[in-house]
Amino acid sequence: MINQFQKSNALYQRALKTIPLASQTFSKSAMMYVNGVSPLFIDHGKGAYVWDVDGNQYIDYVSALMPVILGYCDEDINRAIIEQLDKGIIFSLSSELEIALSEKLVELIPCAEMVRFGKNGSDATSAAIRIARAYNGRDKVAVAGYHGWHDWYIGSTARHLGVPDAVRGLTETFKYNDAESLETLLKNSPNEFSAVILEPDGAVPVNSEFLQQVRGLTEKYGVVLIFDEIVTGFRIHMGGAQAFYGVVPDLATFGKAMGNGMPISAIVGQQRFMKKMDDIFFSGTFGGETLSLVASLATIHKLEEKKAVSVFSQLGNMMMIGVEKLIAIHQMSHVLSVSGGAWWPRITVAPTEALTVLDITSLFRQSLISQGLLLGGGFNFSLAHSDAGVADDTLSRLDASVEQLQYYLNSDKPMQHLAGDPIQPVFQVRK
Ligand SMILES: Cc1ncc(COP(=O)(O)O)c(C=O)c1O
Repeated sequence: MINQFQKSNALYQRALKTIPLASQTFSKSAMMYVNGVSPLFIDHGKGAYVWDVDGNQYIDYVSALMPVILGYCDEDINRAIIEQLDKGIIFSLSSELEIALSEKLVELIPCAEMVRFGKNGSDATSAAIRIARAYNGRDKVAVAGYHGWHDWYIGSTARHLGVPDAVRGLTETFKYNDAESLETLLKNSPNEFSAVILEPDGAVPVNSEFLQQVRGLTEKYGVVLIFDEIVTGFRIHMGGAQAFYGVVPDLATFGKAMGNGMPISAIVGQQRFMKKMDDIFFSGTFGGETLSLVASLATIHKLEEKKAVSVFSQLGNMMMIGVEKLIAIHQMSHVLSVSGGAWWPRITVAPTEALTVLDITSLFRQSLISQGLLLGGGFNFSLAHSDAGVADDTLSRLDASVEQLQYYLNSDKPMQHLAGDPIQPVFQVRK
């Protein structure tokens, strides 16, 4: 049982003095963990495991928020990076690596005729929106998911402080899996919507007719359709959800898992849209940085070679069955359930009369940490999770975590067992 966090707690106090939030990312920050009894700083990782600064070991299903798709310190990717490091990290002109990776993405992704690279998912989604606006001369955007930190999107969420009202007014949300709610938006503002951007599958599994309907509506109203495949890319299918469901968007964005953790993203799409990139401004110092390009080429090669997509779905099916059994054994089905597709299974929490979702999630996360499991909502698989023994190790740690939650919830005052402040939401987008 893990209960030593002295170094993490000390580093947190030190970080607070010079780093707002004490983290670079909301989802990696102290807000997401029960204060005082959680690791806040990782020292190193190998395969499916990470070790915190206090020396505690965890099976990591957060996978650094999904970029780690092969495992930590994958030897093939490390070798590719080290070989390139000896040639140069970045140059004063473009490199052939950019062409090689763009050709690979064109081969894999149905809508991809041309490709540009960015460093974050937000670079890619913002570029796609700019292309759409340049293409049809309209300003409004319809969204139904999470699409990054830039003004055009974040203005539509509850955490919009600092985004001008004029910008906020240009983005509207519609309901996921509800084509009617999208049509209402498009119909009520004729010729105003430039783009519809959505995650083509995710935490809420998509209804495949919905994607067809959205494709039809965007054509009917002359709106650019963008699939944000930053989560789905290389996980549900090597060509993204568009290849899996057979619905081809105009533009699509990829990121996260492309380079097993190296910072790289891509905007891909049909030529008539992508050619607008000759004229819009999308240009940055680090755009052609080579370590990320070689990491991405090597990652995609290994994912194909190891048939990763089918490994993930087998792993997911097994994990879903295993977790459902544990929930039944510990009589927790009133608060815990398994949801999502096999490529990205999730444990979903429901409230009780006395406790909110955040209360129960906090108690559960405390239990998971104490058993050595880093697990947010979803199982963010890497190939290393399919290594011998990892799945059994996971299920036995989950068994102990669910049993601990059962003990907490069956006690008179469950929240008295929470050793720190409850976790806090950043905002909810995946409803
Ligand atoms: C679907 C989706 N789009 C866009 C982004 C933004 O990517 P990044 O955080 O790399 O800027 C994310 C990040 O979580 C995401 O999940």
